Amino acid sequence: MKFLVINGVNLNLTGKREQSVYGTATLSDINAKIAAYCKTNSDEVAFYQSNIEGELVNCLHTAFLEKSYDAIVFNAGAFTHYSYALRDAIAAIDIPVAEVHMSNVHAREEFRHSSVLSEVCKGVVCGFGASSYIAAIVGLKGAL
Ligand code: DQA
Repeated sequence: MKFLVINGVNLNLTGKREQSVYGTATLSDINAKIAAYCKTNSDEVAFYQSNIEGELVNCLHTAFLEKSYDAIVFNAGAFTHYSYALRDAIAAIDIPVAEVHMSNVHAREEFRHSSVLSEVCKGVVCGFGASSYIAAIVGLKGAL
């Protein structure tokens, strides 16, 4: 299978920001862990990160139009909680998307308890740190 792992706003600072919440592994470290996991299953994986909402929309559109991936793992960061543009982009594409969060958003501030993306995603994983991404890949593989 071919996976695309997308990280949204502020996730480029993972490992450097709020280490008590997100840990010390950088996004490169996390992506390397995901790539190693995919390799053991002979799956392919590509990575994308942007802090810009429209670029994330474009990334989803391109994946759809070019039919380049079987499934998408998406940590939209804070966009999760309010971006109707990303919600519509996920709804527009026929590729299954798993919503991912490293932290347990339900154990944090009230505004993080709601997601405008979950309803249009195949599934949601949160709270397992970098392993949330791997759990999402396992879930998508089992569901497809
Ligand atoms: C996050 C949770 C979001 O609420 C937050 O805005 C992030 C990261 C997570 O991975 O736990 O930037 O998506």
